[in-house]
Amino acid sequence: MAEQNLISRPRVLSGMRPTGKLHLGNYMGALANWVKMQDAYECYFFIADWHALTTDYADTTNFLDNSREVILDYLAAGLDPERSVLFVQSKVPVHAELYLLLGMITSLGWLERVPTYKEQLENLVGKDLTTYGFLGYPLLQAADILMYQPKYVPVGQDQVAHVELTREVARRFNHFYQLDGREVLPEPDALLTPSPKLPGTDGRKMSKSYGNTIMLTDPEPEIRRKLKTMVTDPARVRRTDPGDPDKCPVGDLHKLFSSPETLGKVYEGCRSAGIGCIECKGWAADSLVQILLPMQERRARYSNADAENILEDGSARARQRAEQTMAEVRAAMKLAPARQ
Ligand code: TRP
Ligand code: SF4
Repeated sequence: MAEQNLISRPRVLSGMRPTGKLHLGNYMGALANWVKMQDAYECYFFIADWHALTTDYADTTNFLDNSREVILDYLAAGLDPERSVLFVQSKVPVHAELYLLLGMITSLGWLERVPTYKEQLENLVGKDLTTYGFLGYPLLQAADILMYQPKYVPVGQDQVAHVELTREVARRFNHFYQLDGREVLPEPDALLTPSPKLPGTDGRKMSKSYGNTIMLTDPEPEIRRKLKTMVTDPARVRRTDPGDPDKCPVGDLHKLFSSPETLGKVYEGCRSAGIGCIECKGWAADSLVQILLPMQERRARYSNADAENILEDGSARARQRAEQTMAEVRAAMKLAPARQ
């Protein structure tokens, strides 16, 4: 019965590069949305560990640790290995086979025109990105996606160009190769994740590279300490100056995480200078702790070995699903089937 249900749900696939432990920005920008999707969709969520190598190939010391931390954060956030297939890219090596085959029909111009390509080539200083792997990374992403023949790919705005490329590649594949007149690689649609404004402690967008993050694993005292030094509405210089929560990063956190009652008190107290910023930040910290503590409790229930087992099981399920697609791909291309 449960199986029946699963089969009738639209399939989705999404992934993240493992950059180590995740922060609140990763949660709001992707994970929170994935957790909600688990009831209505057949979900495949993965850790794109090979993708990390496209920019960080020179030092792979933390490669395995990073994937383990990310799966623990996935579990902490509420991804459920019973309901979603949770896997790691490198444990499903046929992604590389599909990537290679799709490479045969992908023109260089398509890859060079991906907007992030030139931008990152110029902006990521200190890394030589004039590599084949870096140019090919959106195609690897296309292989990740098409492998599971999903209906939707839930992603942020920054990934939409990659889904577009994926569609172009699928179209070209389907044009050249069919299986009994049928398309093997349906074009998936991007499902845009709503991305609320989530400022880091310095007021800029929360990002690991800015060093302004609140981690999902930060203990309560750390959360409170970070909030204390967070920037506020610059108009509130003295305690007696009124401020505006709509111009304050702490106000933005309240809007996302605080109850309507607390939010009401923030607006009223800030605009009338009835409360101080210290007090207001304390309330924001309370709201964050309420979200993060249950995650940290859930995280603590899994050992490293549990995390690795979950990835192992999920990857075995993913391999099975991927093999199904690959069998169709090889047949459509008139290649030899893999040995049974
Ligand atoms: N490129 C994505 C990122 O940087 C990660 C990713 C790799 C991905 N393969 C994917 C996302 C497939 C969605 C689907 O966040
Ligand atoms: Fe920001 Fe709160 Fe201070 Fe107003 S009272 S400026 S919302 S921290």
